[in-house]
Amino acid sequence: MKIVVVGSGGREHALAWRLACGDGDTPRRDRTVVVVPGNAGIARFFRCEPARTVDEIVDVVTREKADLVVVGPEAWLEQGLVDELRERHVPCFGPEAGAARLESSKAFMKSVAREAGVPTADHVVATSVADAEQFLSSRRGRGVVVKASGLCAGKGVVVCADVDEARRELLAMLGEGASSGPRFGDASRVVVVEDLLPGRELSVFAICDGEDAVILGAARDHKRLLDDDRGPNTGGMGAVAPLGEAEGVTDAFLQDVRVRFFVPTLREMARRGTPFRGVLFAGLMVDDTGVPSLLEYNVRLGDPETEALLFALDLDLAPIFLAVGAWEPLPRAHLARLHVAIEHAVDVAVDASIRHGHQRAATVVVAAPGYPEAPEKGLPLTGLMAAERVPDVKVFYAGVARGGFGLVVDGGRVLAVTGRGRTFDEALDRAYRAVDKIGSLDELQVRRDIGSSVRAR
Ligand code: AMP
Ligand code: GLY
Repeated sequence: MKIVVVGSGGREHALAWRLACGDGDTPRRDRTVVVVPGNAGIARFFRCEPARTVDEIVDVVTREKADLVVVGPEAWLEQGLVDELRERHVPCFGPEAGAARLESSKAFMKSVAREAGVPTADHVVATSVADAEQFLSSRRGRGVVVKASGLCAGKGVVVCADVDEARRELLAMLGEGASSGPRFGDASRVVVVEDLLPGRELSVFAICDGEDAVILGAARDHKRLLDDDRGPNTGGMGAVAPLGEAEGVTDAFLQDVRVRFFVPTLREMARRGTPFRGVLFAGLMVDDTGVPSLLEYNVRLGDPETEALLFALDLDLAPIFLAVGAWEPLPRAHLARLHVAIEHAVDVAVDASIRHGHQRAATVVVAAPGYPEAPEKGLPLTGLMAAERVPDVKVFYAGVARGGFGLVVDGGRVLAVTGRGRTFDEALDRAYRAVDKIGSLDELQVRRDIGSSVRAR
């Protein structure tokens, strides 16, 4: 089987590694994985082929005669890469552009959630401050969140302590009366204003075939740059996965999320003529009584959650991705063989969640100096071999390029150093032991408190 993985970050390195290895830890002889475009670190393990546009990616895939394409980043999904490949009858795992709107338009996501009866914060969609006035005046003394509807690389969400602050944010985002226009251009011409939800965030990933979903796992990432959740938001500075009973993520909880969030969303997407096939990533807020609400959907795997999730998972994803990529239903017989729990539930025909082994994993991101505002490129990376030699550790490569004598920093998030063990403590200790082998740590940025919420007390 020849698999093309599209993307250039740590998530794509982890996907390439897991797909190449099947359910083991070493690449299978009967698999070839090519990464497009990849990066200089991934190129140490997999052939990488350059491509900068949808057309160029399609060219590479055609030339390679790929049996399966797996798309990592949302940008390609929104630009219709999957649509293009499906027209050419290439099995491709990921949603088409119409379904990718679940991530690229928050107004669309809220409308689907409302129609599907998925629990989510009450909201209003505004294209002028006046549109939100009634909503805001009914929220005096309460927290409100203002979100640009379009994609803003994580910068488009502002949590406001009160409605006066929300009004100011709304005005700035919409750019009403400002000669410079909306703050984020087209992405903030439409703004969602919603209730602030208290609780703890959780990411749940589901593989979806357009009608049904199987839960791949739950993870927690750390979005802020600095320890103790201080500093600016980032793409993610670390993650732990899979969360389980000890973290309050029971089978019953995951089944509930599947039945009340994913399945109704899939039904509504199918009803609208844009069935969702691929990984749906629910960003949930879980209140202190354990009740979840939907904050957002992403139409892809998370980064760095994927690095942790796939390093811990002893499951061959290729047959599942291949079935979904070819518009077939989730391969239940295969899932059952691979110890996926298929249980009969009361109100649905079949209930399924992937049963994880006893491995736990933790990813610590090593980021460039200046990240996220202005990442500096060019710093030489040392100690990588020593880091890779730490047992039960995998270094997944992200923002790196080839320099004169080895790899150099080339982007915001540079490495996703991932440890594995029987407990999160073991996984975290291994990941940090490997991080500490890397040179120039005084210039690079690393959070030291990844996984603090899952460590044994
Ligand atoms: P989003 O892109 O919608 O997930 O928002 C980014 C971040 O803003 C989330 O990860 C949360 O930390 C926070 N956030 C978004 N919506 C809410 C909400 N309704 N209540 C509390 N926090 C929120
Ligand atoms: N780590 C969050 C994301 O991938 O969106």
